[in-house]
Amino acid sequence: MAIYETLMLLIFLPLLLFLNHALADGLTLDIVSLGAKPDGKTDASPVLQTAWAKACDSTGPASIHVPIGTFYVQSGSFNGPCKNNAITIRIDGTLVASSDIQVLAKTKAWIEFKDVNGLSIHGGVIDGKGSGIWNCKHSGNNCPDGARNLEITNAQNVIINGLASINSQMFNIVVHGCQNVNIQGVKVSDPGDSPNTDGIHVQESSDVTILSSNIGTGDDCISIGPGTTNLWIESVTCGPGHGISIGSLGKSANEPGVKNVTVTSSTFSETTNGVRIKSWGRPSSGFATDIHFQHITLDNVKNPIIIDQNYCPHDKGCPHQDSGVKISDVTYEDIKGTSATKIGVKFDCSPTNPCTGLTLEDIKVTYDDQIAKASCKGAKGTASGVVEPASCLE
Ligand SMILES: *[C@@H]1O[C@H](CO)[C@@H](O)[C@H](O)[C@H]1NC(C)=O
Repeated sequence: MAIYETLMLLIFLPLLLFLNHALADGLTLDIVSLGAKPDGKTDASPVLQTAWAKACDSTGPASIHVPIGTFYVQSGSFNGPCKNNAITIRIDGTLVASSDIQVLAKTKAWIEFKDVNGLSIHGGVIDGKGSGIWNCKHSGNNCPDGARNLEITNAQNVIINGLASINSQMFNIVVHGCQNVNIQGVKVSDPGDSPNTDGIHVQESSDVTILSSNIGTGDDCISIGPGTTNLWIESVTCGPGHGISIGSLGKSANEPGVKNVTVTSSTFSETTNGVRIKSWGRPSSGFATDIHFQHITLDNVKNPIIIDQNYCPHDKGCPHQDSGVKISDVTYEDIKGTSATKIGVKFDCSPTNPCTGLTLEDIKVTYDDQIAKASCKGAKGTASGVVEPASCLE
């Protein structure tokens, strides 16, 4: 009897495990099996589009696999709504864009996911081949804007885990109009002088988390646009680049505000800014409130702590106007390190619409082995603990 039962277990257990595994995984689509070539030059877009259509049409969970190898992708636009809410894209290889700057000249995003509920992207490298666009912009010619490497639009319940975005022509990863997005272990790498290559841009989205990511770019590490609420950023390393920025806000007269943003346990190395809030010097309904910057390490950062409400590039469309954007309830806690300029803390708020409820606690910013300086305009709030430079808040 014991032998019989053991025998049955030996036969059926693996079978059960196999069935369970196969069912849990649902439909799996391997792009090479579907005809894609890992030669770096045959366009894999049509195959990816076919795989997406199948995955999206599946009533159960579906998974698309990009195996090891380099796949040229002219562009990909992957739209829902889908019949399931569990599509996984596993990338072991690299997707490369065209290095010809005209190929994506009229395309906003090289790879875009839209109207999807339940999407996870794991691993992989996406290479936007942006150097042609950067060089064009450097030489000041009439250049295409460049495409964003990856854009997620109007989507819910999204995970991006372990993806590397490199050489983006423009912004690297954009989250726009989304709810519940978890970005983790992402690496962004563009040269420090590449124009407009923001690492991650979040706008009109709620409940987004960005964790354990390493971002080096030529523009903002993370930029936070109007209509962002409940954003959590933790353990991010920025540099080179322009640091983490809420804004620019207030470009439009009518604009949703930014509410409940936390940046914690993050490091800035050799960036232009550390933690920044920036708004146009023009009338607007926009606002930024309930913002928390905490446990921040600074290494040779030009503007470690900054609020700038007088943004007006080339003095066009706003000269001598005060920002309508209301900034309130911003806490700076445990922010330490070195500034690359004398002014380590700068609050340049709207004169007619001052910042209120700013809080400084345990701050130590040095410049050239001395305590840095602080500068305040229209900034109201309180300080506690050791604050160096001393608070200039009213
Ligand atoms: C603020 O956002 C965090 C997530 O980033 C969330 O856990 C928290 O509940 C939010 N607070 C409020 C008051 O909505």
